[in-house]
Amino acid sequence: MHSTVFVTRKIPQEGIDILTRHGFQVDVNPRNRGLTKTELTVSVAERDGVLCQFTDKLDEDVLQAASKALVFSNCAVGFNNVDVACATRLGILVTNTPGVLTDTTADLAWALLFALARRIPECDRFTRAGKFKTWSPMFFLGSDITGKTLGIVGAGRIGTAVAMRSAAFRMRLVYCDGIPNSTLEKELGARRAGLEELLTESDFVSLHVPLLPETRHLVGEREFGLMKKTAFLINTSRGPVVDEKALVRALQKRTIAGAGLDVYENEPKVEPGLMKLDNAVIVPHIGSATMETRVKMAVMAAENLAAALRGERPAHLVNAEVWNSPARRKNG
Ligand code: DGY
Repeated sequence: MHSTVFVTRKIPQEGIDILTRHGFQVDVNPRNRGLTKTELTVSVAERDGVLCQFTDKLDEDVLQAASKALVFSNCAVGFNNVDVACATRLGILVTNTPGVLTDTTADLAWALLFALARRIPECDRFTRAGKFKTWSPMFFLGSDITGKTLGIVGAGRIGTAVAMRSAAFRMRLVYCDGIPNSTLEKELGARRAGLEELLTESDFVSLHVPLLPETRHLVGEREFGLMKKTAFLINTSRGPVVDEKALVRALQKRTIAGAGLDVYENEPKVEPGLMKLDNAVIVPHIGSATMETRVKMAVMAAENLAAALRGERPAHLVNAEVWNSPARRKNG
């Protein structure tokens, strides 16, 4: 009997090929959109494994419906979409795709930083509108990057990669993390600070924390008040880390100079106020969106899933405790 796998969204073929080479019976959601909860619940029933995306909300109802599933392989590094505690109770393995998207996401954080500091989207709109009639010494003045202070909130893999790129711009580096980062301290002379201190000192603040109960609205009204009026916020982590309504107010009142966002509190909805603001650069959650990286993510997610279905320990287990637990679901 072949193991059955459900893939919740179309992914690069390289990932599908791995699953079929293993002899699994693979079904891919044919729609060009995510599934509703009802559709997801129906689709995961009777499958041995599910390859899912961070946009699939895998709550208790969906996990319970997947009564045969051994594994949910999330094709993302973040896994706040999965009720991991529930999966663990049910003996279901949960895997993710760390590492392969680090540089790509760090590049996007820098793209947002540049776009903000040099007002690129505004300039682009202006030029396209045929408004470039004459050069002027005072138009579209932005902010320098070289020599400024970069604040990294969350110095894990992606935060570190963002920080490493700052060496090219001779930036001062401050970071905030529960764990000291010796690479950043030794190689870049970075200083570890509390969040308040970091916000007060930084010209650019880049967020790289996972979404946890304690990081929800980590940056809100009070925190914007601590930032320099000339400072920029960049968020490529998860939307709810920032209080988006408070951010709109801070941008409108120019409490801070600007924000570059890849992620939103109620994705895919974007706070309407943000759309009207020239000092916000907004992109649709494209942190890992390069062809090369999406292929690597699909391959890693497929390999994690295939390992689990073959009774081997997947390389990137989120709930490692399930592996040795008697509650772990097994094939057959
Ligand atoms: C992730 O991997 O967590 C990203 O947000 C989507 O690629």
